[in-house]
Amino acid sequence: SQLHAIRGSFLDFVDDPFLIAESESVRYLADGLLVIENGKIKAFDHYETLRDQYADLDITTYSGNLILPGFIDLHVHYPQTEMIAAHGEQLLEWLNKYTFPTEAKFRDVEYARTIASFFLDELLRNGTTTALVLTTIFPHSVDVLFEEAQRRDMRLIAGQVLMTRNAPDFLLNDAKIAYEQNRELIRKWHHKDRLLYAITPRFAITSTNEELTLAGVLKAEFPDVYVHSHLSENLKEIEFTSALFPENKDYLEVYERFGLVSDRSIFAHGIHLSDSEFERLSNAGAAIAFCPTSNLFLGSGLFSLGKAKSIEQPVNVGFGTDVGAGTSFSLLQTMADAYKVIQLQGGQLSAFQAFYLATLGSARALSLDDKLGSFDGGKEADFIVLDLQATPLMALRNPTLTASLEDLASSAFALMMLGDDRAVKATYIKGNLAHEIKPSDS
Ligand code: GUN
Ligand code: FE
Repeated sequence: SQLHAIRGSFLDFVDDPFLIAESESVRYLADGLLVIENGKIKAFDHYETLRDQYADLDITTYSGNLILPGFIDLHVHYPQTEMIAAHGEQLLEWLNKYTFPTEAKFRDVEYARTIASFFLDELLRNGTTTALVLTTIFPHSVDVLFEEAQRRDMRLIAGQVLMTRNAPDFLLNDAKIAYEQNRELIRKWHHKDRLLYAITPRFAITSTNEELTLAGVLKAEFPDVYVHSHLSENLKEIEFTSALFPENKDYLEVYERFGLVSDRSIFAHGIHLSDSEFERLSNAGAAIAFCPTSNLFLGSGLFSLGKAKSIEQPVNVGFGTDVGAGTSFSLLQTMADAYKVIQLQGGQLSAFQAFYLATLGSARALSLDDKLGSFDGGKEADFIVLDLQATPLMALRNPTLTASLEDLASSAFALMMLGDDRAVKATYIKGNLAHEIKPSDS
């Protein structure tokens, strides 16, 4: 069997720092060894502990870097890659003016493949090893994304976008045809290699009762597929939604009525949720993708992470970049903006909490924590090597890596505030190098 190992300073989480003492949730091995066999983690411990057992192993050493489980992006639109930074509008106008015309270009399969390929390389460059991705209404836009992810051996979740009203004709699908296309896509891709499928009604506004009914039928037919949508992002969106679905008491109920809220449901944003909606999300085991760069960019509002985490049974939360409304593919930049969003509400977000959300927190939100999110033995070996001194300014800030958790908290905080793709020195997928900044590149 193929055995190799990585030696360096490792940071991951064994539990949720929102629930227990941070010092007990963090696992930090200042000099650790990660042993990989056939793309999975075979052993993980202090170098000293494992050195004799794995004496003549092929070891790659990273010193002065921080090695983390790969980042998980819990909400991102691959067709919007090229329209990032489209200025001057809030959600509904932004969709009509920029987004829908851009997504229409994906009727061309070769165009879709070119962007899918760029998008996945950009994820890897940013240290994102898994993502929950929106596509377009065109089934081939799902095929090309999965084909490209398969070539890169990535664990990726995606699905065809369902839209049946309130968008230009060229971007609407027929509910019944889309239902059949989804069945075919699920059979073709769900659990194929590392790929998983998500039923993806865009949001309540573009959905008819028929579309949501058939989405619910699909979910009942394939219970372990995901449901992925937007929820309560923008005040005008919420107003329009309640006009379209007057029989429902709130936004979440639109999805609940059709059987679309479960422990495999991920909703982006959740900015303007009531206490009742938070509680129902929690009871269902559903998750929210917190998308701070997008929420600031579109002026949507401030997500209350404090509320999501302080209720009796906290809601699962992870980070979404939400590109193209989001302004960066970097989970580090996303964490930096999350910190500011929490500050504006008088709360606090520690570096450990932020790194937890981007790794094990998101893996749990996806019910994939048996496979991803930490260095536990048996998990898939997707991990990243972060350079704490990637830029002159980061080097001047002089982050130190000692055995002390306090030093680590401070260094990790500087990394998330100042870091971006330049700090991602290497990205490994299933133990293989998938991206690397060579010394001559910087
Ligand atoms: N709500 C419905 N569609 C979208 C989208 O493409 N981006 C964002 N941010 N919100 C949405
Ligand atoms: Fe989005």
